[in-house]
Amino acid sequence: MKAIVFLGGGRITSALIAGLRLAKFGEPIVVHDRHPKKLQQLKRQYGVVVEADLHRAVASARLLIVAVRPDSVRGLLKEIGLNGRRLTAVSLAAGIPLSKLRAGLRLPVRWARAMPSPVCRSGRGLTALTFGRGITPAARAEVRNLFALVGPVVEIPEKRFDAFTVTFSSSHGYHALATLTSAAESIGLDRKTARMAAAHALADGIVAWREGDVPLDELLQEAATPGGTAAAVMASQDRAGYRKMVEQGLRAGMRQARRNAAR
Ligand SMILES: NC(=O)c1ccc[n+]([C@@H]2O[C@H](COP(=O)([O-])OP(=O)(O)OC[C@H]3O[C@@H](n4cnc5c(N)ncnc54)[C@H](OP(=O)(O)O)[C@@H]3O)[C@@H](O)[C@H]2O)c1
Repeated sequence: MKAIVFLGGGRITSALIAGLRLAKFGEPIVVHDRHPKKLQQLKRQYGVVVEADLHRAVASARLLIVAVRPDSVRGLLKEIGLNGRRLTAVSLAAGIPLSKLRAGLRLPVRWARAMPSPVCRSGRGLTALTFGRGITPAARAEVRNLFALVGPVVEIPEKRFDAFTVTFSSSHGYHALATLTSAAESIGLDRKTARMAAAHALADGIVAWREGDVPLDELLQEAATPGGTAAAVMASQDRAGYRKMVEQGLRAGMRQARRNAAR
């Protein structure tokens, strides 16, 4: 039986495999990486088959998942070289468009892009997908079904893929948690209490919005009594350019995606 083959055994591969194992995915998984230590660790942790030879790894694939950093993609595809086999390949590389992937590894390889979240480790990570021309309904379903094992899946047109990528990253949540925690420490809370307060502030608000049917602006009004402390915090943050700063961050992410695409 042909396997799901990961090229690159780093952070996102490890998170995806952990999620797949949690979902009791029983089909063979092969991982190739240039670091034998990383391969041994993945083998020990998740019982995957490891393959240090790139060409043998590709030859064993039914579905190929390209999970190297964007600046390594071009070199990796060049190393694979001519591939005569009909194969579905999924790139996780941020910013690299389908046109570049197709130019790197031509037909009969059919390309898709996926942007999973490392939260897939717990089975709750959203994955964005976009498909290239000519991908068969069966291949599309196979890719969808694989990522659906580790969380919800959403299809995003390629022209909006990078904007979605920079917006949905779980790094926003971690960054906000770290920032709110350290700000709370600076006004007198100890680290543990600050982290608990910050985690409730961020997570509980979002769960309440998600699980209820009250619009966000109403929830905001409910949580901030006019003239009260929460209203003072929000007004001060807005005056200091909170929204503008977040938008600038997203624009920096988009510029990085464009730099990745130019590689
Ligand atoms: N981390 C995330 O949360 C996340 C989420 C969604 C998508 N992604 C995307 O997934 C990709 C991988 O990200 P990551 O964070 O998992 O990166 P990573 O931890 O650096 O893992 C990539 C691994 O691939 C290896 N590699 C690179 N080129 C290779 C080659 N030619 N042959 C064999 N191994 C090679 C790297 O080795 P070296 O260190 O020696 O290069 C490294 O061990 C990126 O394109 C990123 O945009 C990441």
